[in-house]
Amino acid sequence: MRHSICILLACGLIMAVMLHLSVKETPLDIPVIYVITPTHTRPTQKADLTQLGNTLRQVPNLHWIVVEDADFKSPLVAKFLLNLRISYTHLNVPKPDYCKSGCVARGSEQRNLGLDWLRRNRGPLDSGVVYFGDDDNTYDLEVFEEMRYTKHVSVWPVGLIGSRRYERPLVRDGRVVSWYTRYPGRRFCTDMAGFAVNLNLILANPEARFNLKGAKAGMQESDFLSKITKLEYLEPRANNCTKVLVWHTRTEKASLHEHVTENVDIEV
Ligand code: UGA
Ligand code: MN
Repeated sequence: MRHSICILLACGLIMAVMLHLSVKETPLDIPVIYVITPTHTRPTQKADLTQLGNTLRQVPNLHWIVVEDADFKSPLVAKFLLNLRISYTHLNVPKPDYCKSGCVARGSEQRNLGLDWLRRNRGPLDSGVVYFGDDDNTYDLEVFEEMRYTKHVSVWPVGLIGSRRYERPLVRDGRVVSWYTRYPGRRFCTDMAGFAVNLNLILANPEARFNLKGAKAGMQESDFLSKITKLEYLEPRANNCTKVLVWHTRTEKASLHEHVTENVDIEV
């Protein structure tokens, strides 16, 4: 009798430990990845969003902030997000008038609105990381786990950029010391896809926004990072920045010169 009670107790203990371990490993206990994606209407938009959505739906504890460059939220994006069944926030803001004929800072008014949303809806007790994920890049799932435990600002290489196979931070003794880049002379020679920021650093620096007026080409990322960090604080990821886990692929502009229309209601 005493023997079976002991066995029962031991089993109970083992189950409690297993339950505790599995609870600890549920996604809710890991920092949230907030991906801010500016997006705009064009023929390839749904295809791009579908590819990105299929990637993001596989990442645990991720909240997707999709910001349309538009006066209104489009039914296309609204329906797409609803069907995706992941945690998301759908916002919109049009680019300012002075950018309508082309601006060097594409998507940055939208990124700023995403940052405003986080500052209004999250607080210092929330743990997370913020990533600016454009809608036409290609993301390895591993890049999200590399960024998840960012303490301050983490960095890694970006493939197919600057007319090179990749650009990357150069690391010595575990610290970023300079950059392998086509365009040197910037304090932070990284693309939007090559860094992530701890949520609390975003909340603690409300002035950190992307400049649109007077922004110089290729300077957005560097200007933004200069407001919140220094080179020596950067956390190199992706095996000391030797592994490409995200590519600046850019979808080819659809050539729709055949103006033929079928007399059928097709959802595109
Ligand atoms: C490069 C960088 O990778 C971008 O992060 C940067 O914003 C951009 O240059 C820039 O400096 O202008 P690139 O591929 O040239 O990216 O730009 P896009 O992919 O065309 O645009 C970046 C993001 O903004 C995309 O998510 C896109 O959908 C969005 N976007 C673009 C808008 O919201 N509105 C636009 O008019 C154009
Ligand atoms: Mn792009």
